[in-house]
Amino acid sequence: MTEKPIVIKTPAEMILDSRAARARGERVGLVPTMGALHQGHISLLDYTRQHCDRLVVSIFVNPIQFNKKDDLEKYPRTWEQDTARCAEAGADVIYAPDAAVMYPAGFQTKVAVGAMAQGLCGAFRPGHFDGVTTVVLKLFNAVRPHLAVFGQKDYQQLKVIQRMCQDLDLEVEVVGCPTVREPDGLALSSRNVHLSPSERRQSLCLYKALSRARALAQAGEREAAALIAAARREIESSPLARLEYLEVVDAETLEPVSRLERPARMCLAAWLGDTRLIDNMGLD
Ligand code: PAF
Repeated sequence: MTEKPIVIKTPAEMILDSRAARARGERVGLVPTMGALHQGHISLLDYTRQHCDRLVVSIFVNPIQFNKKDDLEKYPRTWEQDTARCAEAGADVIYAPDAAVMYPAGFQTKVAVGAMAQGLCGAFRPGHFDGVTTVVLKLFNAVRPHLAVFGQKDYQQLKVIQRMCQDLDLEVEVVGCPTVREPDGLALSSRNVHLSPSERRQSLCLYKALSRARALAQAGEREAAALIAAARREIESSPLARLEYLEVVDAETLEPVSRLERPARMCLAAWLGDTRLIDNMGLD
């Protein structure tokens, strides 16, 4: 029988729990989530379970990283299912503070990473990464993890968080795990539930676009413009997909590159109807 994780609702209790784990010599691992857990999250839990003694999953739909009210409101909330999945994956603790506990009256501090958070998604979702880094630092302060694990699907988020940790001398190892995909290639996302059947079919153009660009790069194409043009054609052949951005960036700095000379990644965001999807792929 799987044992139920304990649910902790306040930073003060979370700090005590992790302090006790550390005092017992345990390695604490954190997987930050907003719930609506799918197989992509479970792969992060599995990785962390293998590398840590105490597995903490945070479930907190973070209001300050949503720049549209309706996006926050329609974000799926599946608490019963999430707790069952955490139990199956062997989580010890679910850290799930309420918004009023995370951001009590008078809260007025934010963490803002510079240029790296301004391009790609940052250009279209003003304030989004400030919201992410602020909540992730608060989660790190409460959980005090040795290891924190994020998905590479949110590649910019991963790099921005690694930058924050380096810049602020945080003593936490931040690891990115590979994107988990549906058998046909669509990246798993909590937002996929909003796709209609025809949008779901056409959403495949995102994976096809990235795969096409990677195949060309592997065949020797070095010009980012040529890779972007090929990927764009793939997306434009699906009338339901509306491209928001499509860029080739340096895999570490996220600066746009014009020629592939160092590890690079193609990153994109597109709308299928009212649903915004993001994806990315290494071009090496
Ligand atoms: O990727 C997410 O689910 C969120 O952005 C995170 C990292 C949990 C912060 O709210």
